[in-house]
Amino acid sequence: MKKIIILSGSIRDGRKSHFVAQYLQEKFLETDHINSTLLDLKEYPFPIMEIRMNQTTEPPEKLEEFSSLLSKSDGIIIVSPEYKNGIPGALKNALDYLDPQIFKHIPLGIVTVSSGGFGGLYCLSQLRLVGLALGGIPIPEKLCISKVQEVFDTSGKLTDQSFSEKATQFTNAFLWYVKRLSD
Ligand SMILES: Cc1cc2nc3c(=O)[nH]c(=O)nc-3n(C[C@H](O)[C@H](O)[C@H](O)COP(=O)(O)O)c2cc1C
Repeated sequence: MKKIIILSGSIRDGRKSHFVAQYLQEKFLETDHINSTLLDLKEYPFPIMEIRMNQTTEPPEKLEEFSSLLSKSDGIIIVSPEYKNGIPGALKNALDYLDPQIFKHIPLGIVTVSSGGFGGLYCLSQLRLVGLALGGIPIPEKLCISKVQEVFDTSGKLTDQSFSEKATQFTNAFLWYVKRLSD
């Protein structure tokens, strides 16, 4: 059984990228040999990072749990909105706490979400660099969702069925790396 973490990176009230994270989680629940966990950043309200986890004996509450869930996985999918052409501050702040190389040998699938027409491409490229700094292996495949408000309705129900096929292609590619890199 391979352990997958889906990190949902928006903590915003009314967030829409969380619908994407939930959709992927449901998809993995139907996948054989995959144990998938949805890690919701909103449940880990870390303060602004002043000292890294490996340099303090008093880390913020739940930080060790957050770090351990990610580092003990066989694959990580980060679902992130694009804010101001980049990574949301709360997500980057959480990742900044983590030890360098903590994602060593772990494949990273990056999923970006925007309400505009470019699918969060700037955020994608930035998250790939951050993933490398953590020792992870960002996969070449991407899932960039433009105009998310036209893909899911306000209750989180998928309304654009063409998204399903794109998501399947992405998750299949991701699982290929998970299987190859964790045997
Ligand atoms: C502070 C902030 C900055 C944003 N900047 C961008 C941006 O640079 N490009 C873009 O396409 N959408 C931008 N958006 C819109 C988000 O893409 C939109 O809110 C989308 O639903 C994904 O974010 P969410 O998961 O928080 O809902 C921004 C939204 C916020 C709240």
